[in-house]
Amino acid sequence: MPLTKFLSIITVSLVFIIFLAVYATLFNNVCSDTGNIKRSKFRYESYDDSYEARSSQVTNPILSRRNTNPFTKPVKVLRCTTTSCSKSSCLHQNSSDDSSPFPSDFLFGTSSSAYQYEGAYLTDGKGLNNWDVFSHENPGRIMDGGNGDIAVDQYNRYMEDIQSMKYLGVNSYRLSISWSRVLPKGRLGGLNHLGIKHYNMLIDALIRNGITPFVTLNHFDYPQELENQFKSWLSPEMQREFGYLADTCFKHFGDRVKHWITINEPNQQIILSYLKGVFPPNRCSMPFGNCSQGNSETEPFIAAHNTILAHAKAVQIYQTKYKKEQKGSIGIVVQTSWFEPISDSIADKNAAERAQSFYSNWILDPVVYGKYPEEMVNLLGSALPQFSKNEIKNLKRYKSDFLGINHYTSYFIQDCLISACNSGDGASRSEGFALKLIQKGNIPIGEVTDVSWLNIDPEGFRKMLNYLTERYPNIPIFITENGLGELQKPETTVKELLNDTKRVRYMSGYLGALRAAMSDGANVKGYLAWSLLDNFEWLYGYKLRFGLFHVDYTALKRTPKKSAYWYKKFIEHHGSKGNLADKK
Ligand SMILES: *[C@@H]1O[C@H](CO)[C@@H](O)[C@H](O)[C@H]1NC(C)=O
Ligand SMILES: *[C@@H]1O[C@H](CO)[C@@H](O)[C@H](O)[C@H]1NC(C)=O
Ligand SMILES: *[C@@H]1O[C@H](CO)[C@@H](O)[C@H](O)[C@H]1NC(C)=O
Repeated sequence: MPLTKFLSIITVSLVFIIFLAVYATLFNNVCSDTGNIKRSKFRYESYDDSYEARSSQVTNPILSRRNTNPFTKPVKVLRCTTTSCSKSSCLHQNSSDDSSPFPSDFLFGTSSSAYQYEGAYLTDGKGLNNWDVFSHENPGRIMDGGNGDIAVDQYNRYMEDIQSMKYLGVNSYRLSISWSRVLPKGRLGGLNHLGIKHYNMLIDALIRNGITPFVTLNHFDYPQELENQFKSWLSPEMQREFGYLADTCFKHFGDRVKHWITINEPNQQIILSYLKGVFPPNRCSMPFGNCSQGNSETEPFIAAHNTILAHAKAVQIYQTKYKKEQKGSIGIVVQTSWFEPISDSIADKNAAERAQSFYSNWILDPVVYGKYPEEMVNLLGSALPQFSKNEIKNLKRYKSDFLGINHYTSYFIQDCLISACNSGDGASRSEGFALKLIQKGNIPIGEVTDVSWLNIDPEGFRKMLNYLTERYPNIPIFITENGLGELQKPETTVKELLNDTKRVRYMSGYLGALRAAMSDGANVKGYLAWSLLDNFEWLYGYKLRFGLFHVDYTALKRTPKKSAYWYKKFIEHHGSKGNLADKK
């Protein structure tokens, strides 16, 4: 045999062997998360600390370590046994391009809100809002006495922040409009053109950089004038005001903004504002909280009713006046938690269901079906307002295009309706007689963190998405917030904050759960991490840090944390080949 022929046979054999090895690796690692997950045993793989950054662009000393094969760990977030991985589901994942379960138009982004980010609280004609007034009058109610006067100064630094987004490789950014920047005193106070100009510049800059803006019309803040005039969300007048804001924003920004969110987390906001009374306007009654006015057993339901109808009004305006031409989509965002029955008893299972009804379904059922959940109707009686025939018609007729889901954690739920029960979060009639606990005996739900309400339980996220898919079939879902906050204690160093391995573990687990839920059938179209930067975290002030980028609040300098690098790599591996804005 001539030498050349011999060599070529050897070469072909080697190539074949290498091919087999690669193939086997793919089967073992990549395809394993797409098997029949309902039957499979899988676990969330925890983050491996040996995985370190290698990019030389990153100046963060913690990130600039040498790295070996950065993606072996984070890619295979889920693993099922080979037997449960059916051939057909494996085969469509046989090249690296096809290995992502995320469709090519999937949005990967980060999330923010006006009051938490912008600062510039009196700049260019902005009016005072409820949070300006509350934080100035009650610094003692905020952990570090802080406020959003400066926040992270995104009003002035948005170009720099867009560079941070480009570093991450995200294709979308969720921001909110500061109502009192656009309409300082509401509907009757006139338009602030400089406010409009600011958002025009921000939206244009995002799009120029290939980042799709995802715009929330209302994220907790509203002109103080509306509180003074008619008690904001307690009055139906707020529906008209919000409709006016929505119309104004569609008119000025809707040629470029194609993803609208009406209202952020009305369920959570209303509980904090009108049941516990810790958010402005600080209304509540005993024993829920110690407020100078309010009624925790009626006002939350009135405020929610007006909020739902305000949302419906904005959707109606969009669908009838703008959608045909602007071709965007509109939805609402609710806060969700997974509620796990604390035992197998029917009572606890029903309580967990009631807990959902009194939390996210409270808002989503009317938005999707035009009615409140049965459990609320039955327990609350006349405390629950009713929709008029015409309102029901409009709720059903002008549909939301998607549901925005914020999700952070899980709770155990114990029945308080037919069982003896300690008092506590959730135990009252107004909360559905469903006590929320973060541990069962002394076993916590998920991994405990230093934030009392935030345990790490990715499996709960998957269950939550499956629950929503079952209750609201076919409606696309965007994950509009998800992330981990770290409390800054006096002894915490910047170096520790930058080395945020727990956040990486959190994101890795929750994104794995998201993939699993999508394989189960959840129709999820995007994931926006909370949050791009550390920011003003409401009652925690600046002490609770959720950022992928660390913010030094003296110099307002942004520095990528380990999680920023991790998310960047995740998106590189799983993200779309081109982003939406570029394709226009
Ligand atoms: C980062 O934190 C992990 C523990 O969470 C530790 O093992 C590792 O050494 C730290 N890395 C640096 C650079 O401090
Ligand atoms: C998988 O790879 C084979 C061989 O390279 C190719 O013919 C097939 O089209 C691929 N399947 C998919 C879904 O990409
Ligand atoms: C409620 O607040 C008022 C005013 O701050 C205070 O004087 C009172 O002691 C508080 N009551 C309770 C039961 O905490």
